[in-house]
Amino acid sequence: MEYRSLGKSGLAVSQICLGTMTFGKETSPEDSTRMIDQFFDLGGNFLDTANVYVGGRSEEVVGQAIKKRRQDVVLATKVRMRTGPGVNQVGVSRKQIMDCVEDSLRRLQTDYIDLYQMHVWDQITPIEETLRTLDDLVTSGKVRYIGCSNYYTWQLMKSLCYSDFMRYARFISIQPQYSLVCRELDREMISLCIEENVGVIPWAPLGSGFLSGRYEQGVIPTEGRLSAKSGEAHWGHRYTEKNFRILDEVKRLARQYGKTPSQISLNWLMYKQGITSPIFGARTLEQFEDNMGSVGWRLSDEDWNRLDQVSALPDEYPTRFIEKFRRSL
Ligand SMILES: NC(=O)c1ccc[n+]([C@@H]2O[C@H](COP(=O)([O-])OP(=O)(O)OC[C@H]3O[C@@H](n4cnc5c(N)ncnc54)[C@H](OP(=O)(O)O)[C@@H]3O)[C@@H](O)[C@H]2O)c1
Repeated sequence: MEYRSLGKSGLAVSQICLGTMTFGKETSPEDSTRMIDQFFDLGGNFLDTANVYVGGRSEEVVGQAIKKRRQDVVLATKVRMRTGPGVNQVGVSRKQIMDCVEDSLRRLQTDYIDLYQMHVWDQITPIEETLRTLDDLVTSGKVRYIGCSNYYTWQLMKSLCYSDFMRYARFISIQPQYSLVCRELDREMISLCIEENVGVIPWAPLGSGFLSGRYEQGVIPTEGRLSAKSGEAHWGHRYTEKNFRILDEVKRLARQYGKTPSQISLNWLMYKQGITSPIFGARTLEQFEDNMGSVGWRLSDEDWNRLDQVSALPDEYPTRFIEKFRRSL
């Protein structure tokens, strides 16, 4: 297992992060605990949850499972989604953050969160209020580092500028959707993160299971995550001609390397410039074992580039224009 600094920080995280969105529901608490134990046995140290996963149950399962090794864990959770019917029980106002952090700490059975992430941009609360509140939490010791998730590039840049100007703690990471079948962030976000040294920890690195190769072209899924009727995992977002072309290349490389399509897809992502640690999901222990086989080896540069090319965004403005005039000395 490799370890990498998370953005502009001294926090070392494993090159792969275990997502816990299914823990306590599709994945039983017993299997979730086994998965976490095995993850640590294999050198993983980075876990991602959120206050709203399974109505808080994911945090409870994670908290119970890591009690015995709290200091070895880099524990990430989130705030921002609705937590109740009240008008203030959503967003990242000072009031909601201060309430939610206490709830998360209680469910996680800990007195600090390593990485506290804003789940998605809040259009109502001024970012100045959110960042001041987060800085207070870092000063108090309840939170050690802060991050964001699902931001536009300008929202992240504005946040970083304000934190730097006020000498507040700044976001060290962003958690966006990014994978071989979702590369929209190549337009601006990835280069901003490289420029500003913000860690990128992508969610849905397997395209919600699409890149495991278990789905067939022309067959609308009736089970599994991609049978979802709405949301990012909706099959309509994944079942495109281009995505099946990418999958064909992934499967070809899987045969060539004696690996599985999931392993090829994760390995490509963990060696992409700017990416710190993909956050994968596994509903079952078998899926977990499969996905952990993505670590400990590397695609050749030639094969890595082939996947990069087949999955690249179309040639478009302004990238086309700006890159044409790229300077080097
Ligand atoms: N910040 C955000 O807004 C956000 C959003 C979503 C997720 N996340 C985080 O990112 C983590 C991962 O997200 P994700 O679950 O969407 O990612 P993913 O790794 O792309 O998809 C995981 C799902 O794909 C299927 N799968 C995984 N490995 C497989 C394998 N080897 N063979 C066959 N099927 C396999 C399973 O679903 P089925 O078997 O049920 O089909 C599994 O639950 C979450 O746990 C959470 O921590 C964050």
